[in-house]
Amino acid sequence: MLTLAIETSCDETAIALVESKSVIQHKILINLIASKIKIHQPFGGVVPSLAAREHAKNIPILLKKILKEYPYIPKKIDAIAYTDKPGLEIALILGRHAAKLLSYKWGVPAHPINHLHGPLFASFADFPIHEDDRPQTLKKIFPAIGLVVSGGHTQLYLIKNFKTLILLGETLDDAIGEAFDKVAKMMGLQYPGGMLVEKLAKKGKKGKFNFPSPMIAKNNYNFSYSGLKTSVLYTIKKLPKLSKQTKADISLAFQNAAFKVIEQKTEKALKEFSAKTLIIGGGVSVNNNLRERADKLTKKLGINLLIPLKNLCTDNAAMIGIAHNIANK
Ligand code: KG4
Repeated sequence: MLTLAIETSCDETAIALVESKSVIQHKILINLIASKIKIHQPFGGVVPSLAAREHAKNIPILLKKILKEYPYIPKKIDAIAYTDKPGLEIALILGRHAAKLLSYKWGVPAHPINHLHGPLFASFADFPIHEDDRPQTLKKIFPAIGLVVSGGHTQLYLIKNFKTLILLGETLDDAIGEAFDKVAKMMGLQYPGGMLVEKLAKKGKKGKFNFPSPMIAKNNYNFSYSGLKTSVLYTIKKLPKLSKQTKADISLAFQNAAFKVIEQKTEKALKEFSAKTLIIGGGVSVNNNLRERADKLTKKLGINLLIPLKNLCTDNAAMIGIAHNIANK
């Protein structure tokens, strides 16, 4: 199955071409992303109307590039996949319209895809078991626990098979990536600050600050990051000055508090559902500390770990193409 995928849920305009031989064999032929983060940076976050303007400008540019490189489009493609929800509606509508117009022009079906299935299936782009979709191969993967950690979401799923995804819990307020961005902003760092906080945390000294891990004691799979964020804010407000070392110490303490609760709830879910695999995705899964924690946890439990390559963690269209091809196999 050959699919052209379009992703416009936030500020990145992305178009990809994905060829899938089975539910676990996906080849990304091309994965284009026009990231216009610089336009949003002065505002400290994504401005929806500017994101929409940029999508309108960039969709034709990316499409033209892909058509030039793959002149067999539209003849050989089977479907067009587009991110339908969740996301910024004003941004989603542009991808949706582009997909529907192309569908009409090319006579190829256009299918809506849930954006959150992208991060959960992105790691199947380079799946280590390059066999096929025989039941014994799939039995090695499922049941799995899926963890989405991004700028807009923090969610845990029970994934029984490729078609049955059950939401176990999610954040009740801020998403983890949003908390990273807000803490970065409090320390005068640029948007999006997740990567900068991680970089600072590497130089932080342990034990200088101590922040709470909200919801850690609650016997459920929900998360909350607003309390942690406020705790960092009050700590910063009380400091006479914010040196580079203090920023690093705060970053380390914040990162530990933020990941501790994720680690603990993920372990609980993996054990409760006797999961054979932990699947992680979303922008925050770029973070090396999170990747190390996940590696350690899955090794301890003797189960598989699937995390996408770093270029497939943040928003992209290839993961939407993969999620589509899995759903339509
Ligand atoms: O998945 P994504 O591209 O956007 C959403 O659809 O939400 O994730 C972006 C988020 C931002 O909040 C960004 O700060 C965060 O991912 N992020 C990180 C790192 N790199 C990006 N958070 C922590 N550590 C990182 N290295």
